[in-house]
Amino acid sequence: MDAGSALPSVELSNGQTIPMLGLGTSHWGGYSHAAVLYALGACGVRHVDTARRYGCEERVGAALRESGVPRASVWLTSKLWPGDMGHAAARAACLRSCRALDTDYLGICKAIGVSNFQQHHVEELQEDCDVTPHVNQVEFHPYQQPRELMSFCRSRGIAFEGYCPLAKGQVLCDPTVRAVARKHARSPAQVCIRWSLQNGVITIPKSTKEARIKENCQVFDFSLPAEDMATLDGMHADRKLIHLTQPMWQG
Ligand SMILES: NC(=O)c1ccc[n+]([C@@H]2O[C@H](COP(=O)([O-])OP(=O)(O)OC[C@H]3O[C@@H](n4cnc5c(N)ncnc54)[C@H](OP(=O)(O)O)[C@@H]3O)[C@@H](O)[C@H]2O)c1
Repeated sequence: MDAGSALPSVELSNGQTIPMLGLGTSHWGGYSHAAVLYALGACGVRHVDTARRYGCEERVGAALRESGVPRASVWLTSKLWPGDMGHAAARAACLRSCRALDTDYLGICKAIGVSNFQQHHVEELQEDCDVTPHVNQVEFHPYQQPRELMSFCRSRGIAFEGYCPLAKGQVLCDPTVRAVARKHARSPAQVCIRWSLQNGVITIPKSTKEARIKENCQVFDFSLPAEDMATLDGMHADRKLIHLTQPMWQG
């Protein structure tokens, strides 16, 4: 557990702890300062996911400052872009993100992540690097469940983090998800987030709306029985929403 929050955390291979539930802040669908403040304040969220590409690092930094939550209590992820490859460029990009976020680390990263890495990317990386990445952030929701990659990452001590846990909202109308939600008197979003967590997947749903952020955080007072987990596990359709030509680094 994080000292400042009641939300559970998991230990990475380097001993750092990352909260299992974070808040996404991508540029897709807009950014809400009030929503980030609400997540940090009223909901006890201590994990915020961003990227330079999202164009909101300065605003995330401002929200963190305004919230009054100590920097040390918040897990902050930002991401470099493939063009930031090479030690000097990567360091410069990290420092630029730190300045934007008004923090003195990521630049000196507490943990190194990668994003959208397939097994062969990790293997190639391990041939050249001394440090195995601590996290791989990959698309994960009921329609997209890369189980082999998840097992591979875990076998190498890499925590598996899922983005787009709600499939950008697309899975919320699915009759199977809705039936499980009805059964537990929960919302479809809560069922998807809970399912990710019970799969041991660190998850970062995004919302710009306070009521939804509250809803998305209320997932630790119920659990899905094995039969419902199996139902949702069975929804995999290899349906990816994000198509990238190159994977990314994060810190
Ligand atoms: N590494 C990568 O390549 C990568 C790629 C994509 C995303 N990400 C990260 O993952 C985060 C999450 O992914 P995402 O934002 O693309 O998709 P998502 O979290 O699966 O879905 C977000 C969408 O669902 C809606 N929503 C949220 N909570 C809801 C609820 N309780 N009920 C109904 N609708 C709800 C949001 O709308 P409202 O805002 O209107 O509530 C938004 O349209 C991103 O913000 C980003 O930080 C990383």
